[in-house]
Amino acid sequence: MKIMEIEGGKKLTGTIRISGAKNATVALIPAAILTDEEATICNIPEITDTEALCDILKELNVGVKRASESIIINPEQMENKEISEKFSKKLRASYYFMGALLGKYKKAVMYFPGGCSIGARPIDLHLKGFEALGAKVTNEGNKYTVEAEELHGANIYLDIASVGATINIMLAAVKAKGKTVIENAAKEPEIVNIATFLNNMGAKITGAGTSSIKIIGVDHLGKCFHEVIPDRIEAGTYVIIGALCGNPLKIDNVIPEHIDSLLSKLEEAGVILEVGADYILVQSGENYKAVDIKTAVYPGFATDLQQPFTVLQTQSKGKSKTTETIWENRFMHIPYLKALGANISVKNQTATIIGPTKLTGCEVVATDLRAGAAMVVAGLTAEGKTTITNVEHILRGYEQIVEKLTEVGAKITLKEI
Ligand code: UD1
Repeated sequence: MKIMEIEGGKKLTGTIRISGAKNATVALIPAAILTDEEATICNIPEITDTEALCDILKELNVGVKRASESIIINPEQMENKEISEKFSKKLRASYYFMGALLGKYKKAVMYFPGGCSIGARPIDLHLKGFEALGAKVTNEGNKYTVEAEELHGANIYLDIASVGATINIMLAAVKAKGKTVIENAAKEPEIVNIATFLNNMGAKITGAGTSSIKIIGVDHLGKCFHEVIPDRIEAGTYVIIGALCGNPLKIDNVIPEHIDSLLSKLEEAGVILEVGADYILVQSGENYKAVDIKTAVYPGFATDLQQPFTVLQTQSKGKSKTTETIWENRFMHIPYLKALGANISVKNQTATIIGPTKLTGCEVVATDLRAGAAMVVAGLTAEGKTTITNVEHILRGYEQIVEKLTEVGAKITLKEI
């Protein structure tokens, strides 16, 4: 087991460079098998979720070459085998192989995906979308078989603008016969990144980034080169760290409009930001005002930044409210913030935070990826030593987090125990 130790209260100065987006990467890697030739993707983050997906590629006999931040995926010798349970369960995004394999071979066999326990996380919308395209879905316990004689275009309305279902249906539909329209599609920047990748291969997708995506099926997908967009959640996490500890902190390689909702909430709280074309400079201040947030689908306030943001609320004057509308179980970090000294109560899906309160280091748990990020933000802000256990969750999504923070002056170490 790995733990992180943070000696908090240090001012952080310098530049943190943002890596490629985890949530784009985890869909791009499965999407790459749709090519009939070879796909090169650069700006791939070195995180454990990337490794887990490469293990699945290898299980399917797909050629995988890594060179610094790039990956070359060649499915010419690929075999459409069942994806074993141990790999399916390692992460949520393993389910993108369902859409990709179905799109390519008209058959996918795998197990219910894993991932953070932040809610029930059903996949009904994905499966309904596959069925609308002509597939039959059967399951024996956790094992799912999705199969079609022929995939045909369809009009699909998503009851919820699900990121995963939107991407998975796109993957299944790119080679289907005719036209598919996904209505109430999710609009997250990662979806645009995946659609661009598929279009570079020769797919015909329009409307990605709006709530109506149109896909005209094609027979062949060719060679392509693609770049992962910067990680808006990683960027947002470091901007929040800068608001609490920056002196100043420059967050570089960012697309600022991807975190507009966060930046406007920070400004409302009184955080001084300099927003450049591809960077954000942030200096920590005093007397932040309490602000309320409510998570929403993009371009609303990202649920993945809700947990790190609550740390800033503990340092703001007055009563702040955070309402979580996407996941039922995303307040698992709150008991640990309270252990550090925060004054927070949770009722239903709303946390009420009264600040400012002094945070003092203690032992806390990274219960899931973004809760873990919140613990890092809190540990850097707190006085004294914070020990975070279960940090495997954090390493799934933040590339070189210890190195990046050390470089700007944090006292943070990763230990194997
Ligand atoms: C993705 C992100 C995750 C982020 C989330 C919301 C990845 C790998 N993960 O997760 O970091 O928190 O978007 O921005 O990109 N739902 C259903 N049925 C379905 C699918 C989803 O009811 O078939 C519900 C979910 O339970 C949840 C909501 O829809 O309440 C949104 O989920 P979704 O957008 O699908 O999230 P993920 O793609 O799993």
